[in-house]
Amino acid sequence: ATTALTDRLDRPLRDLRISVTDRCNFRCVYCMPKEIFGRDYAFLDRDELLSFEEITRIATVAAAHGVHKLRLTGGEPLLRRGIEQLIEQLAAIRTPEGRPLDLALTTNGSALAMKAGALKAAGLNRVTVSVDSLDDELFQRMNDVRFPVSRVLDGIDAAQAAGLGPIRLNMVVKRGVNDGEILSMARHFKGTPYTLRFIEYMDVGNTNGWSLDEVVPSAEIIERIGAVFPLEPVAPTVHGETAKRWRYTDGSGEIGVISSVTNAFCGTCTRARISTEGRLFTCLFASQGHDLRALMRGGADDIELAAAMASIWGGRDDRYSEIRAGLTPALRTQRKRIEMSYIGG
Ligand code: GTP
Ligand code: 5AD
Ligand code: SF4
Ligand code: SF4
Repeated sequence: ATTALTDRLDRPLRDLRISVTDRCNFRCVYCMPKEIFGRDYAFLDRDELLSFEEITRIATVAAAHGVHKLRLTGGEPLLRRGIEQLIEQLAAIRTPEGRPLDLALTTNGSALAMKAGALKAAGLNRVTVSVDSLDDELFQRMNDVRFPVSRVLDGIDAAQAAGLGPIRLNMVVKRGVNDGEILSMARHFKGTPYTLRFIEYMDVGNTNGWSLDEVVPSAEIIERIGAVFPLEPVAPTVHGETAKRWRYTDGSGEIGVISSVTNAFCGTCTRARISTEGRLFTCLFASQGHDLRALMRGGADDIELAAAMASIWGGRDDRYSEIRAGLTPALRTQRKRIEMSYIGG
């Protein structure tokens, strides 16, 4: 039988998001701005990263305690050498009910055209791809490494062809940068098998210089799209879903909005995150993680590892997105936060 873990706000641990590298080949302005993540930025050394065995061990223990969904993130997870091998190991894990885990990966899509087949063969279920614009010039300006959007679109099609669906596409909307692309993105992916999701730009990390004026509220996005292509809400099907779903009334598919700024979803947040070097974070906005790597490398057995995870999760009372609105800008910037590129989305 499962011993489900619940936190101080009675939220069970259901999802584990694992960052497998802190590196990325993009320098998205809102995530890894070049001024900070430049040539001499000190990324983690190889022996600081969790090994595949260590990752698999954590995931196995988590699965024994109620986790049924795993998401690999980064940085850019496809940059981690041998990622297919890790996926094979994770795909072999079973829940106490004997089921495999829902195994997903968030990627910038740059290597998908090349890797989709191998990822599927290794046992990956699905991918989520970040696409912030279809306008090539703007896309290149946003990734800041001149990566053409056509190659990402090819990667998405390759993933679909390989059976890595249903594929979700994430667009982080930043006012004054890519909000002019909302409608063309909706139009482009309407009627395709892909579900486009609009994400409110968040104040993750300390380097992206976030301000509330740059957030386009989801309500505005739905209004703008709905005025051209009528939409109706879809009832949530999965507990703790991040995205509010909307469907086109003409039957040509769905979109989603992720409103972590204007409509926080901490109340149903069942997600824990493992950073690249093995710290367990109980919130995307936590300032500190719990060092599982030290525990494992210090010789802890699975029972001790499970006990540590249970005690960390049991002490959890994070709900940053709900309290953000009540913080002054000064209080917000004072808080030290983990970088997105280090913990994944
Ligand atoms: P699926 O439903 O399995 O596709 O995953 P998901 O809904 O968790 O989506 P995904 O991993 O693609 O996350 C999309 C975006 O939502 C992330 O990039 C974040 O911007 C935001 N997000 C996801 N989880 C959280 C969370 O726990 N807290 C906050 N504040 N934002 C989150
Ligand atoms: N706000 C919202 N989403 C973000 N992402 C990265 N930085 C931010 C931010 N500041 C998203 C990426 C990708 C996922 C890994 O996280 O676009 O979809
Ligand atoms: Fe890389 Fe994704 Fe961050 Fe862009 S948002 S820099 S693709 S990790
Ligand atoms: Fe969960 Fe923290 Fe995000 Fe709230 S802000 S939904 S608690 S990760």
